[in-house]
Amino acid sequence: MTSRHLVVTGGAGFIGSALVHHIIEHTDDIVTVVDSLTYAGNRASLEGLPRTRVRLEVQDITDALEMDDIIRDADAVIHCAAESHNDNSLADPSPFVQTNLVGTYTLLESVRRHGVRLHHVSTDEVFGDLALDDPQRFTETTPYHPSSPYSATKAGSDLLVGAWVRSFGVRATLSICSNNYGPRQHVEKFIPRQITNLLDGVRPRLYGTGANVRDWIHADDHAAAVLRILDAGEIGETYLVGADGERSNREVVRAILRHMGRAEDDYELVADRPGHDLRYAIDASRLCDELGWTPRYGDFEAGLEDTIRWYRENEDRWRPQKAATEAMYRAAGQ
Ligand code: NAD
Ligand code: TYD
Repeated sequence: MTSRHLVVTGGAGFIGSALVHHIIEHTDDIVTVVDSLTYAGNRASLEGLPRTRVRLEVQDITDALEMDDIIRDADAVIHCAAESHNDNSLADPSPFVQTNLVGTYTLLESVRRHGVRLHHVSTDEVFGDLALDDPQRFTETTPYHPSSPYSATKAGSDLLVGAWVRSFGVRATLSICSNNYGPRQHVEKFIPRQITNLLDGVRPRLYGTGANVRDWIHADDHAAAVLRILDAGEIGETYLVGADGERSNREVVRAILRHMGRAEDDYELVADRPGHDLRYAIDASRLCDELGWTPRYGDFEAGLEDTIRWYRENEDRWRPQKAATEAMYRAAGQ
């Protein structure tokens, strides 16, 4: 296998670090992680990886000169850096516009200048939501209809990528994935928040009635899909990534409570998220049929158990963020 030099933006975050771990385990590639280590980034997420193959550059992706220096020597850039939490985007949209739009624009200009291949990582939230009983799922032809500042800035970044492919011949692909779970996710997100609340003796918190549906995929399966698209995807094309993991938030909380030895109804209903998307669901047939990708973590319950174990065994990773995160939620009545 030939060894490539890959730049992974946001590689100290949840999905970026899952991707870097996956690359190190399954390829001979070397990786430069570009991450500004916002509240969501954690150096420790790269611990245990060989220093000969993984280097961390603490840089902001909106810094064009620094990005040029890093990208000019790369074989490909995989762009995961983003402001990624809906609730934060409702409290203050400005970093979302800056990182997700200006940051993606900055990277596009850099890969364009240096003729470097780009893969852009996006989210199914760009499509807006589905009715609970809609027989359709999202596909590559579903129109964009984002609801929150987060999803609107991700949608905008996807459109920038498409324009740079068509107008400037940038060699880019795009993936749109459903909700990820797994180790190293920030405690602001749904599943880690409930697990770590329970470890702290606090009841899980469900927004609204808990009827909203998300389509769950393990972050390692997402990482494998991204690499497959980087290797075999058609330039200018979009691939949807999902693992048929639709579940209501209430079902997920009940499963977490069950796995942690608690009564399944021992949760609290709290204030709903404004503009809360009802349901996301991905049809990943194109990726499976054309590129031969299949998820390895077919069993959500088993993946969830592994995830719970990781939070139990790695309190040092999440404890420093927990109090501030819960203070933010308390202020919002959640
Ligand atoms: P995350 O918040 O865990 O990580 C984001 C990382 O980006 C952090 O390490 C942060 O420090 C870094 N970062 C933020 N702004 C930066 C900047 N200006 N310059 C450099 N680094 C910066 O997010 P995540 O959940 O890992 O999401 C990664 C990507 O995957 C995002 O593009 C997100 O839209 C997409 N995605 C996430 C999910 C999900 O369920 N988490 C699902 C589908 C797609
Ligand atoms: P989240 O992890 O924020 O991901 P997204 O908004 O990108 O889907 O939330 C997942 C779902 O869980 C979403 O419907 C909101 C809900 N939720 C709760 O019910 N309670 C919580 O404490 C959090 C953080 C989220």
